Amino acid sequence: MGQTATKKLWGGRFTGTPEEWVDEFGASIQFDQTMAEEDIAGSIAHATMLGQTGIITEQEAAQLVAGLQALRSKLAAGQLDFTIAAEDIHLNIEQLLHQEIGPVAGKLHTARSRNDQVALDLHLYTKKQLTATIDLLQTLQTTLVTVAEQHIETIVPGYTHLQHAQPISLAHHLLAYVEMFRRDSERFQAAMVHTDVSPLGSAALAGTTFPIDRQQTQQLLGLGDNYTNSLDAVSDRDFVLEYLQSAAITMMHLSRLSEELILWASHEFQFISLSDTYSTGSSIMPQKKNPDMAELIRGKTGRVYGHLMALLTTLKGLPLAYNKDLQEDKEGLFDSAETVQACLKVMNGMLGTMTVQADRMQAATMGDFSNATELADYLANKGVPFRQAHEITGKLVLDCLTTKRNLQDLTLKELQTASAVIEQDIYTVLDPHTAVARRNSYGGTGFASVKTQLTAAKQRLGLAD
Ligand code: ARG
Repeated sequence: MGQTATKKLWGGRFTGTPEEWVDEFGASIQFDQTMAEEDIAGSIAHATMLGQTGIITEQEAAQLVAGLQALRSKLAAGQLDFTIAAEDIHLNIEQLLHQEIGPVAGKLHTARSRNDQVALDLHLYTKKQLTATIDLLQTLQTTLVTVAEQHIETIVPGYTHLQHAQPISLAHHLLAYVEMFRRDSERFQAAMVHTDVSPLGSAALAGTTFPIDRQQTQQLLGLGDNYTNSLDAVSDRDFVLEYLQSAAITMMHLSRLSEELILWASHEFQFISLSDTYSTGSSIMPQKKNPDMAELIRGKTGRVYGHLMALLTTLKGLPLAYNKDLQEDKEGLFDSAETVQACLKVMNGMLGTMTVQADRMQAATMGDFSNATELADYLANKGVPFRQAHEITGKLVLDCLTTKRNLQDLTLKELQTASAVIEQDIYTVLDPHTAVARRNSYGGTGFASVKTQLTAAKQRLGLAD
């Protein structure tokens, strides 16, 4: 990037010479060039409107639009050279337009300020990111549903306090994440309502004396609505916060899932193995296969939380309307959008290529007491008050612990000594597969209930059943 000290586009009332390092401190072109495409799109709409309302001539408007389109092509070809001396993306584009079409470029900024311009760019950028993030969430949910469908009858320990609680279907476990990512998607969709709005035409803060047509620019830019208050339009960054908070919650979900994958891939669990693509080795320990990608997702969650907190803090003491503090809104947003989308992609690939060790999962449900509730429920079904049933079962668990057995290893006689109502069918009831199969209350882990959840998820995702 160039750093030539040229005359500022706003330099009329200044006599002092700019210091390069101060310029650099105040500049945002180092990062807001990310919005170059949006800036050009906004200017094309603005120039078109200026021509059609007669604020400038149609011919001048056509020259501006042609020049901006030429810049757009150069941008795509990587041929635009931005300079710190021109401060930000808006002034850089304007300066480049001067070089492209001459003095008529000076008409572009009629009835506009960088304050409504930067707000517009940010709206257009965020809208694009919302769509991309929602698409990635859709892909991830689809992958989770696909894996879940293959594992309806794969039994896995369900945990509370990270202790074996009750056996569940692996599909049920995966579908819990589908629900989380569905809510995330809905949050991003809700953020769209406040993002899909045009601030253009609010000018510096108070609107303009020129007979502009805000509706026209809004429609040309494909935005759903216009801000109704010009002060609000140039100082509102709520829509950025909405992206950041939705991204923070999505990262939290990705991090929880990452943590589970890390645990499941450990030697102690061996419930899954991650594909080589998503694992790395150790430089010293030849046997190692580390779940680095899952760890990185978990780790990157912190920075996205940080960006949300940073912007909330930046905004909290700001008087209306524009203040330069607002320039601090961008890097966190750009980084969050990039991070959450990269993490969604990596998580999708990791889930789609992992191997599920169904036999290990199943085995983990056999040698434990996660069928104790089945026995208590069995007794309660036979008329024993549940509290008493709980007590009887607890005592049997204690016996088993001393004799190193599980409930299903007890003889019918032993069981009947504990409670006379127990019959031979108890052994089927104690089987983890039966335990899962029978839990068909709404939203439960029973196979029928899981199939209902799967059908609903597939319908929502537009997948054929
Ligand atoms: N680079 C500035 C930003 O990102 C653009 C708006 C500057 N407006 C101004 N009046 N200084 O916020």
